[in-house]
Amino acid sequence: MAAKFKVGISGLRMGESWAQAVMNNPDCELSAVYDAFYKENTSINYRFFENSGAAIVDSYAALLADKPDIVIVASPDHFHAEQSIQAMEAGCDVICEKPLTPTVAQCRELIAAVQRTGRKFMTGQVCRFAPGFALAKALVEEGRIGRIACIETEYAHNYGLGSEGFQAWRKSAAVGRENVLGGGCHAMDLLRWLAGEPESVYAVGNHLLMPDWATTDSCYAVLKFASGAIGKLFASCGTNAPYTMRTVIHGTEGTIVCDNTSDHISLCEKKLQKIAGTMAFARIPVGIKSHNVANELTDFVARLKDGAPIATDVFEGSRTVALGEAILTSIRTGLPEKPATF
Ligand SMILES: NC(=O)c1ccc[n+]([C@@H]2O[C@H](COP(=O)([O-])OP(=O)(O)OC[C@H]3O[C@@H](n4cnc5c(N)ncnc54)[C@H](O)[C@@H]3O)[C@@H](O)[C@H]2O)c1
Repeated sequence: MAAKFKVGISGLRMGESWAQAVMNNPDCELSAVYDAFYKENTSINYRFFENSGAAIVDSYAALLADKPDIVIVASPDHFHAEQSIQAMEAGCDVICEKPLTPTVAQCRELIAAVQRTGRKFMTGQVCRFAPGFALAKALVEEGRIGRIACIETEYAHNYGLGSEGFQAWRKSAAVGRENVLGGGCHAMDLLRWLAGEPESVYAVGNHLLMPDWATTDSCYAVLKFASGAIGKLFASCGTNAPYTMRTVIHGTEGTIVCDNTSDHISLCEKKLQKIAGTMAFARIPVGIKSHNVANELTDFVARLKDGAPIATDVFEGSRTVALGEAILTSIRTGLPEKPATF
């Protein structure tokens, strides 16, 4: 058997899901892990990491000195660019959590580093690996609903229930995390993946659901895609309701309703309406997984082995950040915006 890929992980809260994926992947071995506040952050699953067989190192430099083949960056958003660039400069391939970075400017630095080093790079847009969304995408690609005319999605979450992050970085004015981008990037990426590039976006936002958090907590955006499709996005980190990413895709030949928490997606097809004489949704069963990082890792490792391009590469992650930045600019200016291009 070929040697396994040595994997190092930075940031051990979301990093725990990644560590489990690494340990369950027959092509990978978890070699070293790092968390800047390993001793202080008591929400880290110490027992799990101490039994994992990986070295628990006390600096990011030590993580890179262990010479991993792959580094998974699962630290807070504002460290993604810096840690990813250092890892690539050290000769590692990188999987970086979403949002790729907090700003388009940092995305450009990351793109330059990928081009300079020639390393493989994946943005962790995990929703593309959720079974419900993956099936919806396959049906769209197959032409089952024809050309997409209208699409809407939402990322509706409540971060008040323990999602502030260690030292409340998601909430703090000092970090200034834009939560409609930080969390809403899941929905933004989904729109782009399904309907292509938006050429303009107009958005409104407010700060009523989480007034003690530093940034805008909710937004609506309307989008016009280069394809001619139109779209709507709702992103909020303060809704008083269960988490949802309900997505509706209206095509010229049918409609799909899907999400990442149900055991099915729904499909209504024009041609079936003609035969059945009625308009109804068919339920198509799908698996539910709370975290799909294992699928992401499997895909990344397959691309390392066969040399094929990574679908969620640095440009894809950057375009999603660009859409988020355009939404935030539109909220501020009250004007439509064109997302930056790469
Ligand atoms: N794909 C998903 O569905 C998903 C879900 C949750 C979080 N995330 C992403 O994962 C990242 C981490 O989020 P989280 O929920 O684990 O946050 P968290 O605050 O719960 O945990 C972050 C961990 O990183 C550590 N840390 C802080 N600074 C660090 C640094 N410079 N280097 C290494 N470690 C550092 C902290 O001590 C903490 O243990 C974020 O970018 C977030 O957007 C993605």
